[in-house]
Amino acid sequence: MVKHDKREVPRLVAIETTNACNAKCAFCPNSAMNRDREVMADDLYRKIIDDCATFGVQAIEPFLNGEPFMDPQIVPRLRYLRERLPATKLRLYTNGFALVPKRADELQGVGIDHLFISLNTLDPAKYEAVMGLGLERTLRNIDYLVDPSRRNRLAREITIRMTRTDDTTAADEARFVAYCKQRKVNCMIVGLFNYLGDVKSRLPVPSFPCEHITRVDILSNGIVTLCCMDTEGKFGWGDASKESILDIYNGPRARAYRTMHRQGRRKQIPPCGTCNLFWPSFDGLSWPRRVQFGFAYAYYLLRYRPFIKHRASFRAGSPPP
Ligand SMILES: C[S@@+](CC[C@H](N)C(=O)[O-])C[C@H]1O[C@@H](n2cnc3c(N)ncnc32)[C@H](O)[C@@H]1O
Ligand code: SF4
Repeated sequence: MVKHDKREVPRLVAIETTNACNAKCAFCPNSAMNRDREVMADDLYRKIIDDCATFGVQAIEPFLNGEPFMDPQIVPRLRYLRERLPATKLRLYTNGFALVPKRADELQGVGIDHLFISLNTLDPAKYEAVMGLGLERTLRNIDYLVDPSRRNRLAREITIRMTRTDDTTAADEARFVAYCKQRKVNCMIVGLFNYLGDVKSRLPVPSFPCEHITRVDILSNGIVTLCCMDTEGKFGWGDASKESILDIYNGPRARAYRTMHRQGRRKQIPPCGTCNLFWPSFDGLSWPRRVQFGFAYAYYLLRYRPFIKHRASFRAGSPPP
């Protein structure tokens, strides 16, 4: 592995293997995106993974704006990732609709650390209205993959996720939590991000640094975008097909964003000043800043309760539930 003095390394790399999606979630900007729908070229995907192997990235998320199971090559791509990066945490999000039993079987033993399924609601009419898909098939897929006979080899951890919208009631949330508990999977209910104003959300813009400044998010066309909110790559940092991931991460644009966020000036830099993404990043902060932003984050959590999480008792390696 090459040694990189003084240069910062991203803690996570997200790769949009495709920007196509089979759903039309009302709160997600995917359907409003102007980019052509495409699958990332295989040589670009491999180049990114090979770049990541030079610095041993901590975590990879092979999706961004899109549904990873719309990429016909997703399973071999995950296998390549595992081969080149055996110690990297592999986290995958899916809406679960295309994760039919055959697909779930192909994923066995690939080495996914954490599988997130964005189910969003248990109400069939709402599911169809919000996501444009039929709920019954997704529920069947989930029941197949959480079955004790196979979940151990599918992913070390499984989380089912709901996006909390304006009409989500406390009863909806309680039912969702109960559904996850019955299946012994983690449950996560998350408030709405405003996608730079495109999506209406009551949650305010935080003052602490955003998680995206310490990661690299790569669009299917190779552009390293600022983050998933910057769906077209307008505020991008570089082009992964032309430069190395580390050069882009240490380039002037990426550094400028990190500096502004770390100095508490997130609200002064476009587009972050209008964005309410509330996942924080404390990486690279001095201790006084860590304490300052730690308090700001704790206040945000207590005041706005932007998400809830319930951890399941079951983990891969524990006896079947
Ligand atoms: C953009 S999707 C991509 C991966 C995959 N298609 C899926 O549905 O999980 C990643 C996650 O973002 C969530 N999401 C989309 N728009 C959102 C918004 N405005 N606020 C909060 N979460 C959102 C989705 O529900 C999903 O859990
Ligand atoms: S604050 Fe918002 S716009 Fe800025 S990097 Fe984070 S997610 Fe992107």
